[in-house]
Amino acid sequence: MKIGIDQLHLYSSHYYVDLKTLAVERGVDVEKFYRGLGQELMAVPAPDEDVVTLGANAASELAASGALADVELLLFATESGIDQSKSAGVYAHRLLGLSPRCRTVELKQACYSGTAAVQLAVQYVARHPDKRALVIAADIARYELESPGEATQGCGAAALVISANPRLLSLEEPTGFYTEDVMDFWRPNYRSEALVDGKYSTLVYIRALEACWAQYAEMSGRSLDDFKAFCYHIPFTKMAEKAHRKLCRLQGVKVDDEQLSAVLGDSLRYSRRMGNCYTASMYVGLASLLETAQEDLTGSRMGLFSYGSGCVAEFFSGVVEPGYEAVLRGVAHQEMLQNRTELGYQQYEDIFNYRVPTDGGDYTFPEYRTGPFRLKGIRGHKREYEALVERNESSSSG
Ligand code: CAA
Repeated sequence: MKIGIDQLHLYSSHYYVDLKTLAVERGVDVEKFYRGLGQELMAVPAPDEDVVTLGANAASELAASGALADVELLLFATESGIDQSKSAGVYAHRLLGLSPRCRTVELKQACYSGTAAVQLAVQYVARHPDKRALVIAADIARYELESPGEATQGCGAAALVISANPRLLSLEEPTGFYTEDVMDFWRPNYRSEALVDGKYSTLVYIRALEACWAQYAEMSGRSLDDFKAFCYHIPFTKMAEKAHRKLCRLQGVKVDDEQLSAVLGDSLRYSRRMGNCYTASMYVGLASLLETAQEDLTGSRMGLFSYGSGCVAEFFSGVVEPGYEAVLRGVAHQEMLQNRTELGYQQYEDIFNYRVPTDGGDYTFPEYRTGPFRLKGIRGHKREYEALVERNESSSSG
């Protein structure tokens, strides 16, 4: 039985900063960001968005279409959680109108937990082939102002329906996976920005890739030639390029710029304009690959590498299903990225410095442009979310 990704929807904030704006402010040559990191635009979350709204907004069309009506498993992957106890998934569950007969949990292991959720959902579907699972991966990548990581911020979410007989991508066994206790990137509970040993993190990423690939190759008997394209975790697009070059070198395969672009280029387009979305990044890359490729990918095998600092990683693969184009959301995703509002430097810094208050008081948040769901405020220590459709209806009836 084939099991895999049946639908894949993305969401990102309505606001962004062009990295040339940041470069001017930081006195850095813009080419360091554009070419050195391979990033161009950075999505900035509005003050009335958090991972709940990012994730629910990614899944909102799925809910509206009725595709989630029978979902009994919701796995919410994030490393920007909003509560130490209650899962972000439970808020999203209500906003999306899912059935009360549903298991809902939040998963954490840096950027890897989106893939952990997908693999758990695959195992669930193997046991319940008539059921579908919803995986939401949502994150806000946040580093200190003026730090080396600043230009690699971003935000976004991916909502994936995992099912038997998937219409997009069948996921394959075996997979290669790896855990090592390292301090390359982490965020203690008392901080809202990640701490990162940037250069070290890039080395551990590559080390984990080598280990995962070695297992995958040995167990599957496949080589790099068996893949049409690859999709990596994308903290910044240059990282994916470096990782693939290294993998090719290890395998004794020569790869020039043109060949690299042929196997990787399509997967990097969206991330270059969204920035890092942590748990969602690799799935943003997958959507970009499937939606912007110029040729028919039916039957093609894609290599997928997921990396979460700290660290856990996995190399796995999937085969594109016949008729996959009918399920793609390319037009909607590209319109979403096209129709955003650019922020000036001071607007970016003001939004960065704005934080959801932690003094226990009651607050109503200013309204920015968001998707169908937004964070309305805090009252009695509880986050209050608002569905804009409901609000429009109630304001028109009031
Ligand atoms: N024109 C063109 N290129 C230029 C340039 C210019 N004027 N100036 C510099 N560059 C190039 C550099 O040569 C370098 O390229 P190479 O790596 O190929 O040599 C690139 O631009 C970046 O320059 P630096 O290495 O000097 O950049 P930095 O040290 O200031 O910051 C970083 C780089 C350490 C990765 C930093 O962005 C960072 O800390 N990012 C966050 C951590 C991260 O993303 N790690 C990735 C692995 S961990 C992971 O994947 C999990 C996750 O999501 C966080």
